[in-house]
Amino acid sequence: MGSVENYSRFLKHRIFDTISQEAEALGVRAFVIGGYVRDCILGRPCNDIDVVVEGSGIALAEAVAKRLRCRVSVFKRFGTAMIKSKGLEVEFVGARKESYRADSRKPIVEDGTLREDQERRDFTINAMSFSLQKENFGELVDPFDGLGDISRKLIRTPLDPDTTYSDDPLRMIRAIRFASQLSFEILPESFESIKRNRARLAILSIERINEELNKILLSPKPSVGLKLLDDATLLELILPQVTNLKGVETVEGRGHKDNFYHSLQVVDNVAELIRQRPVEQKENRAVEELWLLWAALLHDIGKPSTKRFEEGIGWTFHSHDFVGGKMIPGVFKHLKMPLNEKMKYVQKMVQLHLRPISLVDDQVTDSAVRRLLFDAGEDIDDLMLLCSADITSKNDKTVARHKKNFELVKQKMKEVEEKDEYRNFKNPITGDLVMEVYNIPPCNLIGEIKEYVKNAILDGVIENNYEAAYALMEQKAADMGLVKGGAPAATGEQSGDSPR
Ligand code: CTP
Repeated sequence: MGSVENYSRFLKHRIFDTISQEAEALGVRAFVIGGYVRDCILGRPCNDIDVVVEGSGIALAEAVAKRLRCRVSVFKRFGTAMIKSKGLEVEFVGARKESYRADSRKPIVEDGTLREDQERRDFTINAMSFSLQKENFGELVDPFDGLGDISRKLIRTPLDPDTTYSDDPLRMIRAIRFASQLSFEILPESFESIKRNRARLAILSIERINEELNKILLSPKPSVGLKLLDDATLLELILPQVTNLKGVETVEGRGHKDNFYHSLQVVDNVAELIRQRPVEQKENRAVEELWLLWAALLHDIGKPSTKRFEEGIGWTFHSHDFVGGKMIPGVFKHLKMPLNEKMKYVQKMVQLHLRPISLVDDQVTDSAVRRLLFDAGEDIDDLMLLCSADITSKNDKTVARHKKNFELVKQKMKEVEEKDEYRNFKNPITGDLVMEVYNIPPCNLIGEIKEYVKNAILDGVIENNYEAAYALMEQKAADMGLVKGGAPAATGEQSGDSPR
């Protein structure tokens, strides 16, 4: 027999020794299994450790926690326990042979051996384990040649794929997620099985699906996973708003681009541009970059319903930015994603995604640039990144021309910003101020005054400072018949003129 490579170099942390000793004391065998083993071999960082025990995972976890004097969380119902120690999270579970009912992913669990446990795992690369027994500490136990699949860059199930996928249909999406994250191929018969079993997706909770989607979006080239989801006909079940973008129609010899493949390209471009970002733009962000990738995927979802063929003009998608923005809450609700500032951010990105590029066509006025800075606020860098990623064309010259114009807009933006701080522009005139000065209750006159002052500032009619704004408020209020500290004028009255 040839020499067996030993992996104890990945088991240097004190906790592995402790687990080994406590397992021996309890008379059970314990192994590190799954993602930690895979990631160590692939050279990827990993702080989540799964330990499988031929016996009670909970009993071993409790013994280890006692020795290390750390807390243990026990999940009796699942037969698992978790220890957190010095940045590591270790989950203990008893080895099991599982059988699943066809209508649910809740397993009927029976105790089993390591080998039986490995068989029931999702992929060969996730079924490898390191022994923690004293006599062969660090030895790889790899009955399905996961190591070979790592070198072949292959996603393969330990058992017949129909069995593995029907045990837990989420694995169909996990296969695609790992292929996208690791740039691996899925074994063709495994992929065929995914297509065959697509209906089983229905038993999954949308939260679990969404977790995998997020991981696909955060993978180096998200289009790999998104295309696989589409090829497997799963994407249309999860995100029909995106697969509806597919297809090219031709009228009078004029076609438009396939907005599905365009959107995938934009997601890849955004992923690449995020990687190239200077560090200072990565820090202090209001929302994570994941949401910028979501905005990229969804930026054109308003196109199918706004598509028209106009004589003499060709294909148009008027207001698809606005319509797309309106669709965002529905998509977020369906995927059970947070309906908070993250959703509002994606909505804003979708709604504003045409604005920077539209400035290219106009002569770029200071006023238009200020309005964009005002509307995008602190998300202006993300919006510019999305907009630049949105410039795709088969014709390199067209891309180069658009990018050049886009750089002009960026330059102009820098100039306007340097002159006056519009990124964090806040109207100096607040509703409270107007109510206080004129002693009036909440009414639409207040909004009118505020809007009037804001437009005057953004149009450059007055300077962007408190004194100028206050003076204009006084002037406007006087025109409306308001008296300082005085009796309220008739509310609801419209005063007409605006500086715009
Ligand atoms: N597993 C499985 N079937 C699933 C989920 C997980 O067989 N549907 C097994 C795999 O052996 C996997 C391990 O449980 O390696 C741990 O799962 P999880 O923590 O979800 O994933 P990781 O493989 O650790 O990968 P990642 O951290 O990237 O999610």
